[in-house]
Amino acid sequence: MDGPAGSQKFHLAQHDAVAWLRALPSESVDLVVTDPPYESLEKHRAIGTTTRLKHSKSSSNDWFAIFPNARFPELFAELHRVLRRNTHFYLFCDPETMFVAKPAGEQAGFKFWKPLIWNKVRIGMGYHYRARYECILFFEKGKRKLNDLGIADIIEAPRISGGYPAEKPAKVSEVLIRQSTEPGLLVIDPFMGSGSVGVAALTSGRRFAGNDLCKEAVDATRARLCEAGGSEVGSFAALVEEAEAGEHGRAGRMRPSEQLGLSGLEDRPDTAEGASGAR
Ligand SMILES: C[S@@+](CC[C@H](N)C(=O)[O-])C[C@H]1O[C@@H](n2cnc3c(N)ncnc32)[C@H](O)[C@@H]1O
Repeated sequence: MDGPAGSQKFHLAQHDAVAWLRALPSESVDLVVTDPPYESLEKHRAIGTTTRLKHSKSSSNDWFAIFPNARFPELFAELHRVLRRNTHFYLFCDPETMFVAKPAGEQAGFKFWKPLIWNKVRIGMGYHYRARYECILFFEKGKRKLNDLGIADIIEAPRISGGYPAEKPAKVSEVLIRQSTEPGLLVIDPFMGSGSVGVAALTSGRRFAGNDLCKEAVDATRARLCEAGGSEVGSFAALVEEAEAGEHGRAGRMRPSEQLGLSGLEDRPDTAEGASGAR
């Protein structure tokens, strides 16, 4: 496990995603990786091409609720508010949702860079051109250089069968987390499901705060994160304080220009490293 001692801390909550985000302080989060139950899933469910929640330990209903596209503006506004300056936001979605999510993210103030592709390796369900990939929209608040400019925009990891509905491989989120944070920093997922983003954060030595509307998801995530060696803290505030007090806390990771109070300059395209050509 990477990261400073004590970085495997996590905090979980069970609320509506927007309500949860509204309760978090502004500029307190270092990275968002999330996977909402997008509206177009309903279409696939209606024609019976998606997996259903099984009645099992980790689920008690047939499917989780969808998050309507009409709520993207309030969701993205809150994500933009809680992220610190010079951070990234990754959104898992299907190609149809991408056309709605991209302008909504830009409207909230994010720079949209490009869709990354998760190559699921094995073909999925469907009636024609059966799905073997999913999009991951790459957004930025301010300017932040990726840690490794040699990483490709297609991330390969076999789809998970028989897991939580729409579960993502932790390996995919691990690439995003390692690209866009340093050890000890705070990653959040407001629609965490089975907690794959949390597992990726903790095993990479980052802190994690997660939320889901569904109790079964919170219970399943808690079990997974404890198994991964994490320890739960009682509040989001405690997690932020730990991150800020840590060896790799906010002061320790300031860029020289921030320490000199010049961070506003970094928002200017001509002063930023890793501008479009380098992505
Ligand atoms: C696509 S799943 C996430 C799967 C997750 N990435 C994983 O790897 O397991 C979406 C999750 O959003 C939750 N959800 C649905 N509506 C929500 C809402 N309004 N606020 C928070 N969570 C919600 C569902 O319970 C479900 O667990």
